Amino acid sequence: MAVSVALRAVSRRYPQLTALDGVDLEVAAGETVMLTGPSGAGKSTVLHLTGGMDRPDEGHVEIDGVQLTPRDLDAHRRRIGFVFQRFHLLPALTALDNVLAPVLPRRVDFDRHERGRELLEAVGLGDRADALPSQLSGGQQQRVAVARALINRPGLLLADEPTGNLDSVIGREIIDLLMALRERYGMTMLIATHDAEVAASGDRVVRLQDGRITSDQRITPAADVLGRLGGLRP
Ligand SMILES: Nc1ncnc2c1ncn2[C@@H]1O[C@H](COP(=O)(O)OP(=O)(O)OP(=O)(O)O)[C@@H](O)[C@H]1O
Ligand SMILES: [Mg+2]
Repeated sequence: MAVSVALRAVSRRYPQLTALDGVDLEVAAGETVMLTGPSGAGKSTVLHLTGGMDRPDEGHVEIDGVQLTPRDLDAHRRRIGFVFQRFHLLPALTALDNVLAPVLPRRVDFDRHERGRELLEAVGLGDRADALPSQLSGGQQQRVAVARALINRPGLLLADEPTGNLDSVIGREIIDLLMALRERYGMTMLIATHDAEVAASGDRVVRLQDGRITSDQRITPAADVLGRLGGLRP
């Protein structure tokens, strides 16, 4: 189920520079927010803090109104999916085993293979389960990475320049796929991108510069986002 996200006065400081400087950002459940801004603006930092891969120096992150604490981080990381620019598939594993990799070392309350196959179908690779990454195109590898990100049925998907290594046509297909999966599984999405066309396909475009939000532009009316969520709830 899609979750809401809030960054409350979040700062991330390194000895030489401030990566994020008192950022406040609220993302409604089911909303897709595109993070834009020049290199070094803080987009990846927002994703890492939201995903619990990094911790703020000041302020905090809330998921469904509950403050993330260091104790929750492991559980939190399991509730989110992450898609990277450079796919990060394990080269020796088949597509199916890459999708299953996050849940192989753990006990889970679902049938791994059934879900892995369902997700490969959902990303259009039902017939390539046994292919190695080297036998797949860049776009197909990113589809496998998207399926892997969904293995725990996350309510939140974070993507860091998911189209950055793909040509614009294939990039468009990946974005369209994410939008379709968002409807099907019910997810909130935060996507960092340098591509203006990709950004325009979100519900909101949040621009960062020097660690601060400099604009926040709504594309989809909030009521439509709510309506989409309403359609998902049983
Ligand atoms: N581990 C680190 N140590 C020191 N500085 C860091 C570290 N990680 C990030 N930074 C700095 O924090 C700032 C924000 O980085 P971030 O990666 O969030 O930018 P970005 O908007 O994602 O850029 P890009 O578009 O190039 O991916 C940059 O100035 C970066 O150099
Ligand atoms: Mg980045």
